[in-house]
Amino acid sequence: MRKYLIAGNWKMNMKPSEAKVFAKQLTDSIKDVSSDVIVMIAPPFTALQAVGEAIKGSVIKLGAQNMNDNEKGAFTGEISADMLLDVGVEYVILGHSERRQIYKESNEFINKKVLFALKKGLKPVLCIGELLEERESGKTNSVLKTQLVEGLKNVAKDDMKNIVIAYEPVWAIGTGKVATPEVAEETHKFVRDTLAEIFDKTVAENTIIQYGGSVTDASVDGLMKQPDIDGALVGGASLKADSFTRIVKFVR
Ligand code: 13P
Repeated sequence: MRKYLIAGNWKMNMKPSEAKVFAKQLTDSIKDVSSDVIVMIAPPFTALQAVGEAIKGSVIKLGAQNMNDNEKGAFTGEISADMLLDVGVEYVILGHSERRQIYKESNEFINKKVLFALKKGLKPVLCIGELLEERESGKTNSVLKTQLVEGLKNVAKDDMKNIVIAYEPVWAIGTGKVATPEVAEETHKFVRDTLAEIFDKTVAENTIIQYGGSVTDASVDGLMKQPDIDGALVGGASLKADSFTRIVKFVR
């Protein structure tokens, strides 16, 4: 049976000193989360160590927001998988739409990172999602299919147990326009069917597919009631203890 994964993507927010206090607060407010929910928080690189120490021994897992696809060396400004592993990181968000759009990351480039993360024993959270104009022109499914096929190229079937897919419609990110549970479910079902095509039915059934885009404590319950929505990747609402705690404790 699939678990749920509720993750907080803090993006470029929280200084290490703030992050440490906030993470400690979360360990307390989240300690009685249901056993079928995995909780992960992804602070900025500079706060990873402090947050890792603050959540030690708690139910919360540590995630990073990006990673370089090389072992080490002359890559100014980059962070390696080993550096992440050394501070206790388990998950790494890859291919977020902000990286695709602002930093022009391609499916091919993201695929290299996915493969490298798997090789190093990190769990990639592969983000996919369509732009508003793509949805409005009926291209959603073909865009998502390309992102999945190219992003997961050369991934072994057996490695899929370590991959999470995050469906984040770009028009819903930071806009307050959350996808309705019905629209999100329809798209998640398509994503799952595509995984069955690329791999097989078992892989599709076992893969966690998160929804992301303006998830709040008010919208989470409706989304989590859908059969193919297995959690949430939360931006803005993960920066406040009360809203993130309520999201983690969603009611089905
Ligand atoms: P918001 O929840 O702020 O819309 O951000 C979603 C997101 O991009 C998470 O990765």
